[in-house]
Amino acid sequence: MDLSAFPYLQGNYAPVEVESDFDNNQLTVEGTVPQSLTGAFMRDGANVAFQPNHYVYPLDGDGMIHAVYFDDGKVHYRNRWVETNHLKTERQFGRMIYGSVGKLLEVPPEVIAAGGEPSPIRNTANTNVIYHGNKLLAMWEGGFPHLLNSDLSTVGLFDYDGALQPGDALTAHPKICPVSGDLITCTQRWDSPNYYLQVFDKNAKHKQTTLVEFERKGIIHDLQITDNYVIIFYAPAFHSLEKAMRGEDPFEWEAQLGTKIIVIPRDGSSGQKVFETEAFFSWHFCNGFESGGKIIIDYVWINSIPFTQAQGTGVEKQPRRMYRMELDLQTKAVSNEQFSDVFCEFSRVDERRMGKTYRYGFAASSNRDWGDAHGYNCTGRYDFHTGQTQLWEYGAEANAGEPVYVANPESDKEADGWVMCFVYNPEEGAYLSILSAGDFASGPVAKVKVPARVPNGFHANWMQGLTLN
Ligand SMILES: [Fe+2]
Repeated sequence: MDLSAFPYLQGNYAPVEVESDFDNNQLTVEGTVPQSLTGAFMRDGANVAFQPNHYVYPLDGDGMIHAVYFDDGKVHYRNRWVETNHLKTERQFGRMIYGSVGKLLEVPPEVIAAGGEPSPIRNTANTNVIYHGNKLLAMWEGGFPHLLNSDLSTVGLFDYDGALQPGDALTAHPKICPVSGDLITCTQRWDSPNYYLQVFDKNAKHKQTTLVEFERKGIIHDLQITDNYVIIFYAPAFHSLEKAMRGEDPFEWEAQLGTKIIVIPRDGSSGQKVFETEAFFSWHFCNGFESGGKIIIDYVWINSIPFTQAQGTGVEKQPRRMYRMELDLQTKAVSNEQFSDVFCEFSRVDERRMGKTYRYGFAASSNRDWGDAHGYNCTGRYDFHTGQTQLWEYGAEANAGEPVYVANPESDKEADGWVMCFVYNPEEGAYLSILSAGDFASGPVAKVKVPARVPNGFHANWMQGLTLN
């Protein structure tokens, strides 16, 4: 492959070409892996298998899962592609067939005649991997998720026993209610501007659908729950399939429209509330909760949608920072304040506090000038009690992925858990970093060093109790 034309396929964004396994004897562990953990850290990401025609970060690329399994103090690393129909078809023909979301291609008749995947829009399965209702799922926000086995082999597309209809696009950012175990998620469709809030119970059975009507389909990436509400941001960010098919920049940002904050009752009742504010974009919420007639939302603010290839810059330069928004449910007043001046993305919390009051947010963070490098060389801890932001730096040139909070099974305190992420440091190679959530200053309690490259990726989760076999 010649990837030289694609800024976001350089350095540690470049794909790996092999699927590997390294057992406890082949992995080097610095420090001590928490003995009490049984489960797996898994991270999805883009890993092109064939040279693309175009590449929009962060939307393109075949999904690959990188996993570190933990069992009785021992670890095992494995990476596997998600075997989508698109990838299987390209393997069958030995070449790239499906285009980028930024430059779609018509599927050749001979591919369809041979039984290849007919949709020109690649189900990348590259955005997130979750474990809910005993289902391990690789998620993509443009279509169905893929069901995986615990060993990362692919079962196939998953439609929640028929709850998802052809054309439904399930978000890659569901939230799990820590009280009910429900998965609160949504679907959108390519042929409708509407948004459907979906709830699946703790056994992954469909429970509820709530319609949210829009006149125009927006790019809505994440959602946030509180005890009683779901909150979404409707930014003036749009994607035009027609422009994509013509090979034009399909992404539209119409700042004059502002950003709407939609507050949807979780119980399915009417009474959706709309708050309006000046235009901003956000990929990710950190957390949200209700307090004193207000909804408090912590999230990563960006001034506009950052699709770098479409903009022709090659490097994302938009500032992105942790913000706290307050929505007054009575007066409809909105306040929106920067919480920290640290550059950050991929914000996470202790999932036991999802939608509830909490102290710590965690995010991939940077203490470098963003202009010279797109990457996060630190994990940040955002303390919403003290207002302080604390960084652990992995090295000036390092890149740290999404930090996942892993609860200590022996404690309900936020400070007693761990924060895990993949790190790539040119001087050290790739490793899984395990920080103590309560003691960032001491650095990782363990580094699980992987004797292969782990490319930069997207979302990760801890799969409690999931083992390799
Ligand atoms: Fe995301």
